Amino acid sequence: MAGATVVDHPLVQHKLSIMRDKETSTAGFRRLLREISHLLCYEVTRELELTTRQIETPLTTMEAPVLEGKKLVFASILRAGNGLLEGMLDLVPSARVAHIGLYRDHETLEAIEYYFKAPADLDNRLVIVVDPMLATANSAIAAIDRLKARGADKLRFVCLLAAPEGVERFNKAHPDVPIFTAAIDQKLNEKGYIVPGLGDAGDRMYGTK
Ligand code: PRP
Ligand code: URA
Repeated sequence: MAGATVVDHPLVQHKLSIMRDKETSTAGFRRLLREISHLLCYEVTRELELTTRQIETPLTTMEAPVLEGKKLVFASILRAGNGLLEGMLDLVPSARVAHIGLYRDHETLEAIEYYFKAPADLDNRLVIVVDPMLATANSAIAAIDRLKARGADKLRFVCLLAAPEGVERFNKAHPDVPIFTAAIDQKLNEKGYIVPGLGDAGDRMYGTK
């Protein structure tokens, strides 16, 4: 789908299938989410720019490639975003972190904000927003509205599963923000859940149901 990159690496697809299985334990679900987040992080950071720095190896000096620019920011949409955040920080430990507390009202499916804390200087930093699920896209759109209002001007969105309806709505609201996902599923059901999906990501991560 336009605007979305599906990370179809066999390891990602295999791990995602285990996560979808309702028999997978809470511990297994969390571990797999962390493992997949490494692979998604690898893809979403593929285009980061490099500069060079002179270093001395045991044999000689060299101009060695290092990341250019200001430190990037991971913005986690709570709760479930933290499952992706942890793995991303494994690979980019110096990143700054924003937390955006949002929950879906179960009747209206509107995103309700209850917390927001972000680094002060978001402009000129790459901000990678993470949340395993893009369903109606209300949460992702609200999070990105908020980050843009705080000055973020270069954003990407990473999720595990997206619904086609969510991708379409997200692209209309934020056409400048590319989506990276492990899969785009069939549809949303009448309760706003992704089908076939994996259920409620937060509940499966934390064993709250
Ligand atoms: C889930 C998920 C997303 C949201 C996606 O969170 O982690 O944030 O739903 O749905 P949407 O695209 O229709 O907005 P939830 O609201 O269940 O909160 P939780 O992470 O605290 O469980
Ligand atoms: N949020 C979830 O956790 N799962 C869905 O299928 C939709 C929204």
